[in-house]
Amino acid sequence: MPGRSLSILLGVTGSIAAYKSLDLIRRLEGEGVSVQVVATRNALPFFPVLTAEVFSGHPVETDLFNPVLPRGEGEGRVSHLALLEKADAVLVAPASADFIARMALGLADDLLSTLLLSATVPVLIAPAMEEAMYRHPASSAHRKTLRERGVVEIPPDSGPLASGKSGLGRMASVDRILETLLPVLRETRPPSGPLSGVGVLISSGPTREPLDAVRYIGNTSSGRMGDALARAALARGARVTLVSGPTALPPPPGCDLHRVATAREMEEALGSLFPSHPLLIMAAAVSDYRMKDPVPGKRKKDGGEWTLSLVENPDILKGLAERKKAGQFLVGFAAESSLDPDRLLEKCRNKKVDLLVANDISRTDIGFSSPENEVTLVTPAGGFRTLPRADKTAIAGQILDAVLASGWTPPSALA
Ligand code: CTP
Repeated sequence: MPGRSLSILLGVTGSIAAYKSLDLIRRLEGEGVSVQVVATRNALPFFPVLTAEVFSGHPVETDLFNPVLPRGEGEGRVSHLALLEKADAVLVAPASADFIARMALGLADDLLSTLLLSATVPVLIAPAMEEAMYRHPASSAHRKTLRERGVVEIPPDSGPLASGKSGLGRMASVDRILETLLPVLRETRPPSGPLSGVGVLISSGPTREPLDAVRYIGNTSSGRMGDALARAALARGARVTLVSGPTALPPPPGCDLHRVATAREMEEALGSLFPSHPLLIMAAAVSDYRMKDPVPGKRKKDGGEWTLSLVENPDILKGLAERKKAGQFLVGFAAESSLDPDRLLEKCRNKKVDLLVANDISRTDIGFSSPENEVTLVTPAGGFRTLPRADKTAIAGQILDAVLASGWTPPSALA
């Protein structure tokens, strides 16, 4: 079904965690996944139906005894089967202890349980209950039965529970649910797009160079630009690998994340991943220097000065550009205190990149730790184009569109 967006059926059952399902709907819609909610009767006291309908753009279905579709929509067919036809996966979040038991037993006494009994697409559950219920042998046995049938369990977190106690049983965070669900969905039906199936390798965030066991040289890069590029590439159908220095950001769902700390760790990770990726985007703010001999343990103060001896780190991008094979396209970033065209062109050619994205780091309203950016695109042939200030998501999309408009054709395989 080319062009149809991914779609899930979200089952909401009776748990206080049902309020989190609203955020889940928003985040899924943001990822381009259409959501049809089916709520059980026990969910309704906890679940703001009208808000869910506004967020999802579909009526929340609850009623099994509404057997035929309205005129013009497959008139005469049983409606719950029609709800399933559109779904690429079924996610039950929150999944209460009672509902998990009913799933395991194969009961079909309401709309959601009936749908699950007919589902042939992947099914995922995010349990939410008190710790004692979660650990009860009956609950454990039901979850085991479901797992054996291929149901994916997104295990709960520990933390404050509805009873006021603290323990295991909070529904997994929306980030963790998406991390599990989106790859399952994308495998069901890989997204189409101009980068469909193309391996895109993105470096992101700062690096940290240790001075001793607790101190380091870092920089103010938030990783937001690399994160936005990863999301934009995923939305265009790419297979994305993200090599990230330390950031506070959760990984974009569906990408393969490699976390590193130092420039040399980043060099090693990128070096082994580069040969299998046609497109490299080097958005990381790599520290140019590292401490020559980091102090073992924590350096004690001694009343005197501490003189640091720094040595240069490898230029990762330059090293990778030297190993570039036919069909590969390299995008570099430039952090400059003023955008001098001669210097930018020299950097573009010196780094041997196909496109250089230059940031003006003297501005505090854009760039490094800001959600917005304004960049100048430079090509080795001397082409200059400014992308006016916009949020990093929009800038990331425009950078990828510039790569795709450059005449580069992603190869089906690398030699
Ligand atoms: N870069 C790299 N390895 C380094 C330093 C930078 O791969 N050791 C990459 C960055 O990720 C970016 C590009 O090179 O894509 C340019 O980074 P920038 O900091 O602007 O330039 P430098 O090479 O560090 O040069 P200078 O700071 O001297 O301008």
